[in-house]
Amino acid sequence: MVKICCIGAGYVGGPTMAVIALKCPDIEVAVVDISVSRINAWNSDQLPIYEPGLDDVVKQRRGKNLFFSTDVERHVMEADIVFVSVNTPTKTQGLGAGKAADLTYWESAARMIADVSKSDKIVVEKSTVPVKTAEAIEKILTHNSKGINFQILSNPEFLAEGTAIEDLFSPDRVLIGGRETPAGQKAIQALKEVYAHWVPEERIICSNLWSAELSKLAANAFLAQRISSVNAISALCEATGANVTEVAHAVGKDTRIGPKFLNASVGFGGSCFQKDILNLVYICECNGLPEVANYWKQVIKINDYQKSRFVNRVVSSMFNTVSGKKVAILGFAFKKDTGDTRETPAIDVCKGLLGDKARLSIYDPQVSEDQIQRDLSMKKFDWDHPIHLQPQSPTAVKQVGVVWDAYEATKGAHGICILTEWDEFKSLDYKKIYDQMQKPAFVFDGRNVVDAEKLRQIGFIVYSIGKPLDEWLKDMPAVA
Ligand code: UDX
Ligand code: ADP
Repeated sequence: MVKICCIGAGYVGGPTMAVIALKCPDIEVAVVDISVSRINAWNSDQLPIYEPGLDDVVKQRRGKNLFFSTDVERHVMEADIVFVSVNTPTKTQGLGAGKAADLTYWESAARMIADVSKSDKIVVEKSTVPVKTAEAIEKILTHNSKGINFQILSNPEFLAEGTAIEDLFSPDRVLIGGRETPAGQKAIQALKEVYAHWVPEERIICSNLWSAELSKLAANAFLAQRISSVNAISALCEATGANVTEVAHAVGKDTRIGPKFLNASVGFGGSCFQKDILNLVYICECNGLPEVANYWKQVIKINDYQKSRFVNRVVSSMFNTVSGKKVAILGFAFKKDTGDTRETPAIDVCKGLLGDKARLSIYDPQVSEDQIQRDLSMKKFDWDHPIHLQPQSPTAVKQVGVVWDAYEATKGAHGICILTEWDEFKSLDYKKIYDQMQKPAFVFDGRNVVDAEKLRQIGFIVYSIGKPLDEWLKDMPAVA
């Protein structure tokens, strides 16, 4: 029986390994992590991450050929294939701070693999890493190998949160990069056989190591670029009276462009897009390509602009001040169907409103109060551009309440900001909400989820991203 071990039981490692275990009953899969609480959660009824369909997959295989453990060394030692799916956050200090990936966790995982291994292993890069990381890892492994043969592969994960299980069941492609040596090709073949249990052969792409690493960064940069492009157009739509949904629909009908990832929003979030672009920017700068670096930086700048534009719109509409006003925040996660808040635009929007002394009442169906308070009390990390949003003061966090119901959040509020596209926000009883709010009552829809016309008929003043403005909003001072 082939044995797989995955180091890192996070958003990537957990779901990916659960699906491998489900699709490959002949393979034993162990997911290991240094975090005891995470592993305990994976072994309980309350999994550490919310992901539609995940519970079912885990329940089917846990204890059979899927195991979650903190005994990292034993499982690594016993495995034929070791996936490394540890976190690779952006460096906050030292060389490359603000852009480069922090590979501390990766390096310590590699050293540990070298330490405990007694047999040959294939080591698979699963976390997104800078191009040429595999080479560095290979050096660590071979210099500490005690005669053991390590083959390193890059197998980036393309799943998106909220649809992870679907994405893993039928991926657009699986990408495997390896060395162009006979041993490298043999390792590629071994990993290919794992995926071939359920992925059609023509969807499994093989390449060299660096192409695989770079493809992941490039794919995320292209996706984020589409969102920044449509968000840039949304600002122009508001200025001219065009409707961004109509524009995106017309643009996306061109088969060369396609309809996906053209939804204007308050900004993209998530653990990948910004981090991966910053990574790309850093690699370009290190390789003497400042023009290319600046090109990709602009994608993040537009994203920051979109968030601050939203805050300015809220404040200027509400008579240029939100001081002391209650603002309901519906949705805090970076997208629907996840409880993940990493880089969520809600953090910057909330901080911007708190900077103007608003009182916030926040509701998200999947994010805990603790998480929200932690996110809002952390200082925003400055990468290399001026921040438009005000810094957070410790006292401002006292202005934040977290509630477990949209009606409670909106009670007595002056305005509502919709920051995540949760389905339930489409079908709320907005008449009931209107009746319990201060007047004039505002809705700022950062995800274009509500039927703006219906809400206007109820009496709301509505702002939707990239849509023709209400007369009210037109009369307000121009936004920055
Ligand atoms: C992304 C990539 O899609 C995935 O392939 C990669 O493996 C990891 O990064 P993820 O961040 O989980 O996945 O979610 P995604 O669906 O890409 O959304 C990212 C952000 O973009 C979210 O904040 C989402 O709300 C926003 N978005 C997405 C838009 O604002 N408009 C769109 O049209 C699509
Ligand atoms: P991702 O979204 O990429 O999956 P996460 O932060 O959700 O990232 O998960 C990464 C996991 O890796 C965390 O649970 C962390 O505890 C774990 N981890 C980091 N370093 C090590 C290590 N050296 N050994 C085992 N687990 C590790």
